[in-house]
Amino acid sequence: MDFRKFAIETAREAGKILMENYGKMQELDWNSKTHFRTVIDQMSDELIRRRIKENFPQHNIYSEENKDFENGSEFSWVVDPLDGTIPYRYGITDHFSVCIALCHGKKPILGVIYAPLRNELYVAEEGRGAFCNDKRIFVLRGEDVNKVIMGFDGGKETPEFKRTELTPYLERIYRQDGISCFLCSGCASVPLALVAKGNLHAYVALSLEPWDMAAAVVINKEAGAKVTNINGEEWKLGDVSILTANPKLHEKLKEMIKDAPNSQ
Ligand code: IPD
Ligand code: CA
Ligand code: CA
Repeated sequence: MDFRKFAIETAREAGKILMENYGKMQELDWNSKTHFRTVIDQMSDELIRRRIKENFPQHNIYSEENKDFENGSEFSWVVDPLDGTIPYRYGITDHFSVCIALCHGKKPILGVIYAPLRNELYVAEEGRGAFCNDKRIFVLRGEDVNKVIMGFDGGKETPEFKRTELTPYLERIYRQDGISCFLCSGCASVPLALVAKGNLHAYVALSLEPWDMAAAVVINKEAGAKVTNINGEEWKLGDVSILTANPKLHEKLKEMIKDAPNSQ
């Protein structure tokens, strides 16, 4: 089956599970201080994994709610069955989605983000443009850092990354001559998609997981963004940070944050 068609159909199918259960206030499993899940995360995960195994049994699978399936393949599916569990569970915003990416080696080559409450389906494939609901999308062109609306994510606390490390970093980009406004929504994928669609200028995060970013990386690149880790290196599977914006703005933002405390 065609990878693109498969990812779209599967994301829509998983999104249906999300919407059938939306507003039902499922019990929240505090797996760790910064990892939450509901039974819906797991239902969506089971569906997506089952579909991948039925269609591409030889491919690797990395998904948030399950252990890695490593099969020695050059292709890996990188899946977040529900990104934005908190906005979803508490009905805070429409920032939640199903994210499905296909990587060749460490490079994302196909990305689908389906945000069902927004009725937005983002799709991009390497070399074939980025789309929202079949309409071509592009990043904003602005490059004045004082007029930037930027998505930001505190991300997960890990053994390598303590949240207190964010403070000096935030000071750096939030100072008087820094950017205008932050959006922090408890979901990485939707604000990342909104950069590709030209609603936000840029997005930065220091400690995320591959499934939070992989699909959005292709979508942003195909919409004209430069997408790197916090050190300015082209984003690849395994990176925990991300910076995306149009290339000129990216350069300026990169300079602004170059000594950020989470240098990898
Ligand atoms: C979370 C979101 C959030 C980020 C967290 C992630 P989840 O994903 O992407 O923006 O701050 O670190 O865990 O748990 O809702 O899939
Ligand atoms: Ca996530
Ligand atoms: Ca998730």
